[in-house]
Amino acid sequence: MLIKTPSPSAARECDVTPEAHYLSRRRFMGAAGAALAMGALPARAEAERYAGVELGATPAWFTEKLPEIRWQAVTAGEEALTPYADVTHYNNFYEFGTSKGDPARYADKLVIEPWSVMIDGEVARPGPVSLEQLVQPHRLEERIYRLRCVEAWSMVIPWLGFPLAELLKRAEPTGKARYVRFETQLAPEQMAGVRSGFSLIDWPYVEGLRMDEAMHPLTLMAVGLYGRVLPNQNGAPLRLVVPWKYGFKSIKSIVRISLVAERPQTTWEKLAPDEYGFYANVNPQVDHPRWSQATERRLPNSLFSPNVIDTRLFNGYEEVASLYSDLDLRKYY
Ligand code: MTE
Repeated sequence: MLIKTPSPSAARECDVTPEAHYLSRRRFMGAAGAALAMGALPARAEAERYAGVELGATPAWFTEKLPEIRWQAVTAGEEALTPYADVTHYNNFYEFGTSKGDPARYADKLVIEPWSVMIDGEVARPGPVSLEQLVQPHRLEERIYRLRCVEAWSMVIPWLGFPLAELLKRAEPTGKARYVRFETQLAPEQMAGVRSGFSLIDWPYVEGLRMDEAMHPLTLMAVGLYGRVLPNQNGAPLRLVVPWKYGFKSIKSIVRISLVAERPQTTWEKLAPDEYGFYANVNPQVDHPRWSQATERRLPNSLFSPNVIDTRLFNGYEEVASLYSDLDLRKYY
């Protein structure tokens, strides 16, 4: 990853409050059957939660899903949510530039309607699927996950999505499917980072998982966060979230999902195989060649309050350990 000296987060103490309100209000919505569409929340509550952040329109396919959301299907214990402003303004989405603020600044150029995803490869039911069709059969769940970037910063984010396993089962993988390959939209006219002659990345952005990783119940296809549809800078309209792996595995704005027999070559592994492995499991014992992975900077933080915490193996999701029982994690990093 192209690393720059991290700039301290812009979040202030007062930005944290809306996230506490978010949780209590959302619990209320869950108890009430969550029959309210987000647009129906009192205007003041809305203004508080998304303090100072411009919100886009909510598409009908998303609003229809709201009454049935399974709130807090997974939580992060007592860990505080990272404020909405940081989650949506401190991003990595190199298609829109390499600065943390570039995605929020430029990703509105990404055209997400209409959106379709090609599902192909080793499946009995290949073909293009519109986003609406793809999401329709699934009940959305809120999953509060830690996100640990390989650059040694982290966040806690309330995603909305559904298990990738459900989507893959619908495509009916054949016996030859051993890996899943994901590809991000490639639209140079909308993506300043792709047009820039300085990028070393071989676009489109590609990621991959082993089949058992893809089928693990924690692996999520996200379509929203903080009770809202995904902002473009976070990978609208559909992204992967694999909470026990470094953030670069969680590929954004997916247009193609292929089930394949061979291990796919992924973007960062291709660029710097000594630094970024295919597995990319969060591991405090295996340092990046240029920095330690033993600790992480939890956002929000500042120069005076660096908020450095210990990094945990598999980002604290020990339940995945059995996937790697026969793997030397130092070799297969
Ligand atoms: N997906 C694409 N297509 N392009 C990217 O540059 N960056 C990755 C990942 N997915 C990236 C991507 C990295 S390095 C991280 S840490 C996470 O997205 C960041 O997700 P966030 O911006 O929603 O926090």
